Amino acid sequence: MAKKIVSDLNVKGKKVLIRVDFNVPMKNGVITDDTRVRAALPTIKWVIDNGGKAIVFSHLGRVKEASDIAKNDITPVAKRLEELIGKKVNFVNATRGKELEDGVAALKDGEILMFQNTRYEDFDVAANKETKKESKNDPELGAYWASLGDVFVNDAFGTAHRAAASNVGIAANVKETAAGFLLEKEIKFIGGAVDNPRRPYVAILGGAKVSDKIGVIEALIQKADKILVGGAMMFTFLKAQGVNTGASKVEDDKLDLAKELLAKANGKLVLPVDAITNKAFEDVPGVAKDVDKFADDDMGLDIGPKTLELFAKELAGAKTVVWNGPMGVFEFANYNKGTIGVCELLANLKDAATIIGGGDSAAAAEQLGYANKVSHISTGGGASLEYLEGKELPGIACVDEK
Ligand code: 3PG
Repeated sequence: MAKKIVSDLNVKGKKVLIRVDFNVPMKNGVITDDTRVRAALPTIKWVIDNGGKAIVFSHLGRVKEASDIAKNDITPVAKRLEELIGKKVNFVNATRGKELEDGVAALKDGEILMFQNTRYEDFDVAANKETKKESKNDPELGAYWASLGDVFVNDAFGTAHRAAASNVGIAANVKETAAGFLLEKEIKFIGGAVDNPRRPYVAILGGAKVSDKIGVIEALIQKADKILVGGAMMFTFLKAQGVNTGASKVEDDKLDLAKELLAKANGKLVLPVDAITNKAFEDVPGVAKDVDKFADDDMGLDIGPKTLELFAKELAGAKTVVWNGPMGVFEFANYNKGTIGVCELLANLKDAATIIGGGDSAAAAEQLGYANKVSHISTGGGASLEYLEGKELPGIACVDEK
């Protein structure tokens, strides 16, 4: 059954609670990537354009001790929202209490209020104690926030793998919960790949560690037609096959697991045939070498051109492609060709749903200018991985069916 969407709601004159994921990267109080704020705009705009009163909130960072409070002040994000949406955002520097309640009561149709970081509720300042009320879904907190609104819209896909007071807690206490347009899009693309992929279905996995991706590899072995492996995790698989991986990063305690996965995959896992090597972990030009020709001091830092050719063949004709994890050290200009190459391959696929999981591969695609050349870039890191694993995400489960 399909989920109820914000546009199914009659929001006119209603107080609409909108949970977004504005957990954006920040450096010294300055937002370094506002993708998640931009991604939430269609939902907030729809609500105000249709006469609703938008009450927007999100967590930011993790609040475990007193010093985390100032560090994770969400005010700069509210300012960014105001700039991007081009309308006043009435910011309330509190997560509960009179100021917040008065602010909500004063809202007129079409206006926006945003309140402070929901994870401020994870720490009791007076008692100087971590309480995790938000993160552990304290029932009183979810009911309180629910009492501030008439309907609830969850648009926080990045947080959908967490059962918090600000998503499932509120949903349990309101009459109606709908998905925002971003959550709807994530369900369509990632959920579509999980439940009903058009075939051939090819997954591309990269990143440093096999251990971070065990669940998703296991799930993809069942679901995908091929799994192309890059990133440092390729060396754990290659070493498990008895190849000399030189000085490359390998998880030696995961070699047995890698062997098991290779056996289970029964030929579905496609490993690189060459890599760009260097003698140290630094951004100087490297040398392309076949993976069976490594010297003991060779460190593989990217997939090589022959591997990109191999991947191009494997991807030809694919109808669904899911990619998670960079192919090499893409932050180094000398070792980003594999990741760029995969972006390019995805961009050139005709008639395919091309989906990039969140986290580093999403950041790479954005940074390298491929954001508009694929079908979907997920805004979820952990959430997109768990979703791909086939797990039920609490933040999606709590949304009403149509
Ligand atoms: C994320 O960035 O993955 C989400 O916002 C969840 O954040 P968390 O890992 O701190 O719960």
